[in-house]
Amino acid sequence: MKREKIADVLTNGQVGNDVLVKGWVRSFRANRFVAINDGSTIKNIQAVVDFENFDESLLKRITTASSVAVSGKIVASQGAGQAIEIAVEHVEILGDANPEEVQKTVMQPKKHSMEFLREQAHLRFRTNTFGAVFRIRHAVAYAIHKYFNDEGFYYLHTPIVTASDAEGAGETFNVTNFDPANPPLDENGAIDYSKDFFGKPVNLTVSGQLEAELGALALGQVYTFGPTFRAENSNTSRHLAEFWMIEPEVAFNDLKDNMDLTEMFLKYIAKYVLDNCSDDLQFLHDREVKEDAQKPTAERNELNLIDRLKFVVDNEFKRLTYTEAIEVLKRSKPYKKKKFKYPVEWGVDLSSEHERYLVEKEFKCPVILSDYPAEIKAFYMRQNDDGKTVAAMDVLFPGIGEIVGGSQREERLDILKSKCADFEIPEEDLWWYLDTRKFGTVPHAGFGLGFERMVMFATGMTNIRDVIPFPRTPQNAEF
Ligand code: 4AD
Ligand code: MG
Repeated sequence: MKREKIADVLTNGQVGNDVLVKGWVRSFRANRFVAINDGSTIKNIQAVVDFENFDESLLKRITTASSVAVSGKIVASQGAGQAIEIAVEHVEILGDANPEEVQKTVMQPKKHSMEFLREQAHLRFRTNTFGAVFRIRHAVAYAIHKYFNDEGFYYLHTPIVTASDAEGAGETFNVTNFDPANPPLDENGAIDYSKDFFGKPVNLTVSGQLEAELGALALGQVYTFGPTFRAENSNTSRHLAEFWMIEPEVAFNDLKDNMDLTEMFLKYIAKYVLDNCSDDLQFLHDREVKEDAQKPTAERNELNLIDRLKFVVDNEFKRLTYTEAIEVLKRSKPYKKKKFKYPVEWGVDLSSEHERYLVEKEFKCPVILSDYPAEIKAFYMRQNDDGKTVAAMDVLFPGIGEIVGGSQREERLDILKSKCADFEIPEEDLWWYLDTRKFGTVPHAGFGLGFERMVMFATGMTNIRDVIPFPRTPQNAEF
């Protein structure tokens, strides 16, 4: 008999048919009811064993976390909670799990802290919460590719090893083949990178944008979707040292087009998850409602997970400039009562407390802030006519903060060169980028979506470490 996935059996299984399923035991109650999960759905299938028909030694091995193959007839379930179950005729133990060992893991049926779960390299995938999170993570990735494919974008693979620091923040991880204890030195005693593998210092990419621009200026509209590395030593619930970023880049788009694209794109993802992940979403939604009930009213979510996703789909994002946002903040209660920790003044970068105020208290909806002071943004952003600001945009989401950063790019060679000088970026390092402005330059724009931040929004998880299978953060790359 061919194995069927539990998701298929639960949706299409016909009473009376023979069926074979394989999976991991979630629980074995009353020596009779085995709950089996195979990852195809959050739901378990109930397999009923008539213990009189089976060897006791075999039944003993049906323990939580063990893997089994069971076959039998699909029957209407007597119990509540499921329409059908399997009347088991044959059981095979594929892999045993020692109950004493299981007791020390997350497979023990009680509530575990996220910290404890994070230490369990593979077993956290077996929990309902993480099963739901990683199925939704997959759906978000698929929705992203589908959206761009349907809109006529090309998926462009940009390099992971690069000599550039596109964002200029100096947070790169260096890549070298040298023996760290004994690197070759030049006559001044400095490390001689001309002898290294690539003949120069290189690092892991912080962004595929500059390369994507080269693609967009020939292919029209492209996007990247790849791993991104930043050695930011910020141990927050929103930062990873290795995360995934999606960076569309579109020739002939200006900042307004860029905002429109971002908004449609984010709405599309939210709608895709609502339409295609209902079981997992409902589980995570209910989990959040339960957790909220334990919290003081002030700390509860105003909207719960499913309603937050619907809100994004149904409501226009609030758009305002950085300058307007500063004015709003200066009129705000926390500003007047000196409750903000960081200064609010034209020219300073907004802190997350300011962003959260705008999104969660003032506008209560996603916000697109634009036209930031040139000094606090990257060199490649297009200079506005006021001479002070650039055509930048950040999208801020409730509970997440910045989810997207983007801009219209500086397409004018002379201004771009003077920006390189301002930011002390040697032109000879970026000749390949500057060249795009010499051979038929055009206005163009793009943005970067932090994939894990989007998955946080889609799952309601509040720590970014809980939406990536193997988080890399300062002091943490064990598995
Ligand atoms: O705002 P950022 O730095 O923008 C860029 O890298 C541009 N090159 C994008 C572009 O215009 N093509 O990063 C974009 C997004 C952020 O808004 C955030 O969601 C996410 O990437 N991000 C991180 N996510 C997790 N961990 C980190 N350390 C992140 N740093 C940025
Ligand atoms: Mg940013």
